[in-house]
This record gives sequence, C-alpha cells and structure tokens, in this order.
Amino acid sequence: MKQYRWGIIGTGHIAGQFSEGLQILPQAILYAVASRNKEKAEEFAYRYKVQKAYGSYSELLNDPAVDIVYIATPNHLHFSLAAEALNAKKAVICEKPMGLSPDEVEQLNQLSEKNHVFLMEALWSAFLPSMLKTKQLVQEGVIGRPLIVKADFGIHPKYDPNSRLFDPSMGGGSVYDIGIYPLFMALYMFGVPQQIKALSVPAPTGVDMTTLMMLKHKNEMVSLLSSSFACNLKSDATIAGEKGTLRLDRMFHMPTKLFLQKENEENETEIPLCFEGNGYNYEAAEVMKCMDKGEIESTIYSHAMSKALADIISNVLTEINEHNN
Ligand SMILES: NC(=O)c1ccc[n+]([C@@H]2O[C@H](COP(=O)([O-])OP(=O)(O)OC[C@H]3O[C@@H](n4cnc5c(N)ncnc54)[C@H](OP(=O)(O)O)[C@@H]3O)[C@@H](O)[C@H]2O)c1
Repeated sequence: MKQYRWGIIGTGHIAGQFSEGLQILPQAILYAVASRNKEKAEEFAYRYKVQKAYGSYSELLNDPAVDIVYIATPNHLHFSLAAEALNAKKAVICEKPMGLSPDEVEQLNQLSEKNHVFLMEALWSAFLPSMLKTKQLVQEGVIGRPLIVKADFGIHPKYDPNSRLFDPSMGGGSVYDIGIYPLFMALYMFGVPQQIKALSVPAPTGVDMTTLMMLKHKNEMVSLLSSSFACNLKSDATIAGEKGTLRLDRMFHMPTKLFLQKENEENETEIPLCFEGNGYNYEAAEVMKCMDKGEIESTIYSHAMSKALADIISNVLTEINEHNN
C-alpha cells in the first residue's frame, strides 16, 4: 500500500475536520500543516498529530516531501494557492469553490493537465455513501423518470462584515459558501442546465444573503434551489420522479439518512447506508485512489464538473447582479 504525505494549508474550522478525516485512513500521513502564524501551526500540529508545522504557506509548498496539498483558506485565496501548489508539482484538493470564476477553474484544470498533477475541488458530498446511493437509485429507475430536484441550504451566522462569509473581497456570499451544495446536487443528478433564473436579497456588504435559483435541464428536468445566511432552512434535498421520491435528510450535503417514498406506498422507507469517519475521509480516500492509478482527476467529480459548477455559479451571480439590485 502506497502512503501519501499530506500538507494542510490553513488552520481553521474545516482544516481541523479534514485532518480528523485523514486520521482514519492508513494510506494518509499527516505530514505538515501551514499557517500564516507559526504558533497557530504548532498548536494545530499538536492537536491533530501532524509531523511538521510551518509559519508560512510557501514553506509547505516548497517542501519536496509533501505529496498532496489540501487548501482550506477563505475562497479568495484558493486560485493562487492551488496554482502555486500545482506548479510545485503537488497534487491538490482545494476547498470549494475552487475558483471565484469559471476562468480561474479552467486555468487550474489546465495547469493540472499541463503538469500532469492531480487536482480536485473538495466537494465532499460527491463521495458520501448517501449521495452515491441516491445517484445509483435514480439511474436504476427506482423513482421512474426523474423530474425535479428540490434542495435548500440555510444557516444563520452572526452578521460580521469582515468575516469570510460577508466580505466581498474574500469571496463571501451564500451562493459561494452554501448555495454551491444545492447547485452541485442539481448538476450531479441532472447534468448541466440549459437555463438558469435567480432572485436574491443582498447583505449590507453587497454579497448575496438569500438566493433563490431555478434551473431547467434536458429531458424536462428542473431544479428548485435556495441558499440563505438570513435564517436556518431545513437543508434537505429531494429528487422526485414519476414513480416516487428520494429524500436526503436535513444537512443533505453531509453524511445523512436517505429515504424512498414510492408513489403507491403510504410510508417512506429508509435506505440502509454505512458511514465511516466524519465524512471528509471519503473525498481524501478518492484522491489517493486516483493517485494510485496515476490519474489527474476523479471520475466521480471531474475537472469538467468543477468547471460546469463554476459556470452555473457565475450565471447565477450575473443574473442576480443584472436583474435584482
Ligand atoms: N467542505 C466543507 O464542509 C466546508 C465547511 C466549511 C468551510 N468550507 C470551505 O473551507 C474554506 C475555509 O473555511 P473555514 O470555515 O475553515 O474558515 P476559517 O475557520 O475562517 O479558516 C480559514 C483559515 O484560512 C486561513 N486564512 C488565510 N488567509 C486568511 C484571511 N485573510 N482571513 C482569515 N483566514 C485566513 C487561516 O488560517 P491561518 O491563520 O492558520 O493561516 C484560517 O484559519 C472556505 O473556502 C469554505 O468554503 C468547507
């Protein structure tokens, strides 16, 4: 079994969660962590049993022993750090959104191809047993002809104009942060949409606070989606077809329960699923599985899908800016 030395960039909330996910994977060595502040890196290294602590991101990227870099900084830094890592010939898994425009994502995809280095956006939901099972059941025709995806994601963080969630210069806004999950769900299940409509209410900083999105896909499939920083929403997802509905329970983007409601049956039935770890282990395992095979992208969540998601987000934001302000 080949082992890989991981380097973690950033020491915030998700860097910790991801490191916990890595801890259960025998192929993964928690080798290095980098912070803008050496003490923070050392604290993180102690907490998650990481071998090395660096006081700058560049030091980690210049360490020849690092095989794979996980980028867990605010959104506005993803592109430059991912590009730096790919140019240093490190495999990259970058937090979502991988870029703040389709052009940034395309440039990263091209760098990955040019340097023949693995690249994947950390859209962890794509690799969860609940999401994979949902896709499989839809493809097997369990709900008949699929027609409608409904998904929302709403949280209510304290308003802080300087936080990564609300600051436009850090890539803030509900679509980039959480709306990306309902949009991903629509793309993952129904493919690239042909038409996109969006309505939004802005936060005082100008980023989108609450956004409603409608997508029309091929074969009469449609998606009705929303995201909000103004209130908690149920944050579940359903896929309805002519013969029934699949429902991913609340916080549908995480390891969660999956239910099937057949058209002629009175009650929903729960589909049995088996989860291991905190969920972040699945995307990390996919990176190493692809690297074992010498691949530079995942077939489950490919370069093209990241680009397609960036295109959808860009269309949503353009629609909001043109029509709603
Ligand atoms: N997959 C998921 O479930 C999930 C969940 C939450 C967030 N995310 C994504 O993960 C990324 C980070 O989110 P988070 O919740 O972990 O954020 P966070 O707790 O604020 O951590 C971000 C880290 O980035 C580093 N950083 C570099 N420049 C910074 C700046 N100008 N301001 C603040 N921090 C800066 C900091 O680490 P140092 O100080 O150590 O350098 C900080 O700890 C975002 O892109 C977000 O979309 C994903």
